[in-house]
Amino acid sequence: MRCWLNGALVDPAQALVSAYDHGLVVGDGVFETCKVVDGVPFALTRHLQRLQRSARGLGLAEVDLDALRAAVAEVCAEPDLPAAARLRVTVTAGPAPLGSGRGDGPATLFVAAAPLAEWAPTCAVVTVPWPRNERGALAGVKTTSYAENVVALAYAREREAAEAVFANTAGNLCEGTGSNVFVVRDGLLVTPPLSAGCLAGVTRDLVLEWVEGAVEEDVPMPALADATEVFLTSTTRDVQPVHAVDGRQVATAPGPVTRRAMDAFVARAAAPDP
Ligand SMILES: Cc1ncc(COP(=O)(O)O)c(C=O)c1O
Repeated sequence: MRCWLNGALVDPAQALVSAYDHGLVVGDGVFETCKVVDGVPFALTRHLQRLQRSARGLGLAEVDLDALRAAVAEVCAEPDLPAAARLRVTVTAGPAPLGSGRGDGPATLFVAAAPLAEWAPTCAVVTVPWPRNERGALAGVKTTSYAENVVALAYAREREAAEAVFANTAGNLCEGTGSNVFVVRDGLLVTPPLSAGCLAGVTRDLVLEWVEGAVEEDVPMPALADATEVFLTSTTRDVQPVHAVDGRQVATAPGPVTRRAMDAFVARAAAPDP
């Protein structure tokens, strides 16, 4: 399948980027992952808007979203696009000197798709010993510097869990490596506020909008262990119930509130750009 790089569709073998690209050298870039079903990207406008916010958060030049939207359409029209695909949009600072300072080269723009793997109906998560810094310059910014997530996910997989969950420096729940976390406490559906340092997940926003009574509230980490229901949200998962946290079984997965979130999502997700 061809991908799109800096203005043209190319074969993957021809998708060449400078070894001096600041995205490669120091992870100076931003990205989005969208779900594409039968050639139609889901929630593309929200994803592109977040990409622009991430670029601003990193101090990158404004992204030409119209150009990127057209690039996405070109990739989604490729005849060998899988029926269910994950689409990745990456923007980096472009070629630069070898240090942390940026160059003045043009940004690197890259759009590619791959088959979307299916998630298990429920999953186990573990908490990791490294906090997210909710006061850091990159809190909530979707940068290509994901090595912290790579390490945390490897930690989870070593413990036979599918996702790693971070606390923040205040000891409150933050997010997963590639997901937001919702818990049910006293019958109330709660997810951490953005001030906890989590990404403003597109799926998180949709659940907050679509599930009546869902609220943003700080969740102290011990409350994760005591929650009657826990679920993850992400573009590729939608809503995924969690059946175990740190080896402790969660009471029900999916429980009734999680089921409501799943149902609301399925019922309304048919609109491709909510
Ligand atoms: C760190 C992090 N948090 C949360 C999410 C979920 O966001 P979304 O629902 O927009 O996919 C992701 C998505 O990959 C992520 O990388």
